[in-house]
Amino acid sequence: MDGFLNLPDIERAAHEALPPMVGDYYRGGAMDEATLRANRDAFARAALRPRVLVDVSRRDLSTTVLGRRTAMPILLAPTAFHRLAHPDGELATARAARAAGVVQILSTLSTTPVEDVCRANPGGTWFQLYVYRDREATRALVGRAADAGCAALVVTVDAPLLGRRERDIRGGFHLPSGIVAANVTGAPRDMPRVAGDSALAAWFQSQIDPSLSWKDLSALRAMTSLPILLKGVLRGDDARRAADAGVDGIIVSNHGGRQMDGAVASLDALPEVVAAAGTATVLFDGGVRRGADVLRALALGARGVLVGRPQLHGLAVGGEAGVARVLEILRFELDHAMALCGCPDIASITRDLVR
Ligand code: FNR
Ligand code: LAC
Repeated sequence: MDGFLNLPDIERAAHEALPPMVGDYYRGGAMDEATLRANRDAFARAALRPRVLVDVSRRDLSTTVLGRRTAMPILLAPTAFHRLAHPDGELATARAARAAGVVQILSTLSTTPVEDVCRANPGGTWFQLYVYRDREATRALVGRAADAGCAALVVTVDAPLLGRRERDIRGGFHLPSGIVAANVTGAPRDMPRVAGDSALAAWFQSQIDPSLSWKDLSALRAMTSLPILLKGVLRGDDARRAADAGVDGIIVSNHGGRQMDGAVASLDALPEVVAAAGTATVLFDGGVRRGADVLRALALGARGVLVGRPQLHGLAVGGEAGVARVLEILRFELDHAMALCGCPDIASITRDLVR
């Protein structure tokens, strides 16, 4: 894995290795993919203002997120179907997360049972929830995740229906036989080919509840004592409302450009959400590909960042070792950026570092 110098190297190798249907699913955004591009462009615009003559001979990347120590301010974003990238699937990801001392957020659409993933990364697994039309099945799923040992619940709120990913519609995205959504109960677990559509979009349409609204938050709160985070918030007013409703955290995200095309770049939405979030923890995702991107998001007020696609690229090139290499590169680059920006620790990454 040492031959891979940076995440773009791993991304290229992954796409050479993956079947086109899977590569397109990972790579794709909604419609014109404008938001997908905007996520990256926003980082390029956020120029850094390095501080000089600070003693950076010792550097500490560790921090806390929701009261728990983490080796660095990076989490693995919930991403569906890891067995499409590697036969070890989410277990490989969990082992790499554990070795690096970071949290893995497991998708509702994991291809490995949540119990097995929690055993591979004790205390380091959070569960991402898609709320089903069937609320009893939702309640059962939340209970199952908590019993398995997940430490927080991440409710994705930017997907009342699936974004229109034209690559997946054209390519007939589906799950090959033998790969299933392993945590799904009370609904079909396989997603066979659907004529003229993405099988995932069709599944989503039939199973996921587009009526989910603010008034359902109290019911979710009553389902579990786990901390709750809302993922997919892009506006200050929504952040304020979430904080007022007592959520523990907010994840600023446009789902990696996969939901509403034309939505604001995640980085551009971050300051507004931070300003409105009160004491709720603010996390961030969308387009993080370099250690300096992590530093930028932290400077703009995020407590930590999630990485989505890079973990899938790591899985595709080398299973656990590939994800480990992705995390190692991000760690190296964040440490490097901190040194060159005059930041010996995470607390010294302040707003003034970004223009
Ligand atoms: C995702 N994402 C996602 N989000 C979620 O809440 N539940 C999920 O099951 C998935 N599945 C998923 C699959 C794939 C292939 C991708 C690329 C993304 C969104 C993910 O959590 C995150 O918001 C973005 O991936 C962040 O952007 P980057 O890091 O990929 O640029
Ligand atoms: C995706 C869904 C599963 O982005 O969140 O593909």
